[in-house]
Amino acid sequence: MYFFYTPLDQDSRLQLLQRHDANALFHLIDTNRAHLRRWLTWERQTQSAHDCEQFITSRLRITAENGGFTAALWHQEQLAGLIELQKISWIDRRSAIGYWLGKTFQGHGLMTAACRAVVDYGFDTLGLNRIEIEAAAGNKRSRAIPERLGFHQDGILRQYQQVNGHYLDLVVYSMLSAEWRASI
Ligand SMILES: CC(C)(COP(=O)(O)OP(=O)(O)OC[C@H]1O[C@@H](n2cnc3c(N)ncnc32)[C@H](O)[C@@H]1OP(=O)(O)O)[C@@H](O)C(=O)NCCC(=O)NCCS
Repeated sequence: MYFFYTPLDQDSRLQLLQRHDANALFHLIDTNRAHLRRWLTWERQTQSAHDCEQFITSRLRITAENGGFTAALWHQEQLAGLIELQKISWIDRRSAIGYWLGKTFQGHGLMTAACRAVVDYGFDTLGLNRIEIEAAAGNKRSRAIPERLGFHQDGILRQYQQVNGHYLDLVVYSMLSAEWRASI
């Protein structure tokens, strides 16, 4: 299993999510349910720190199998959110980023910086060729991140997700390794 640790600035860092983060993760989810429920579907299944520990174990297993990783975003020693590089296809050298932040950690550029670091890692260290970010069409804050980072909008998957009883269109963004290098 590789070790993922990246400072973002003097107050913030990304670090591979570990089992001992389960209590902090549960606290963050439990205090952000309405905020997360708006766009994500898994929050209702997370009812205890034990559920979080099981989630972390499953993610560590994926990491051990070289399928991607889940990192904790720490800001001023508080867990602020998660970012994942997931669904790695080594044949196609392609992967996708997913993320979320606690409500009070929004608005400071933390997740944009985290995405930049994960994209750097995906292209430079893992040798990927394409990284995707998907966001619900109406999720302006989420869509702003790939747009801020110069991702290309590939298209819209119509009624792709069901959240809170509504089908949501999903916007697919991508960045290619050559484009990222040219933009630096
Ligand atoms: C999606 C989500 C992570 C976006 O959070 P965010 O705080 O808007 O994103 P960032 O941390 O990159 O911060 C960007 C904001 O900080 C501001 N900012 C301040 N300094 C900045 C900097 N140096 N760089 C970039 N942005 C900066 C930006 O202007 C922007 O604020 P604005 O929207 O008011 O203009 C968050 O809204 C969230 O978790 N939502 C719920 C779950 C969810 O939707 N997940 C995504 C599913 S696809």
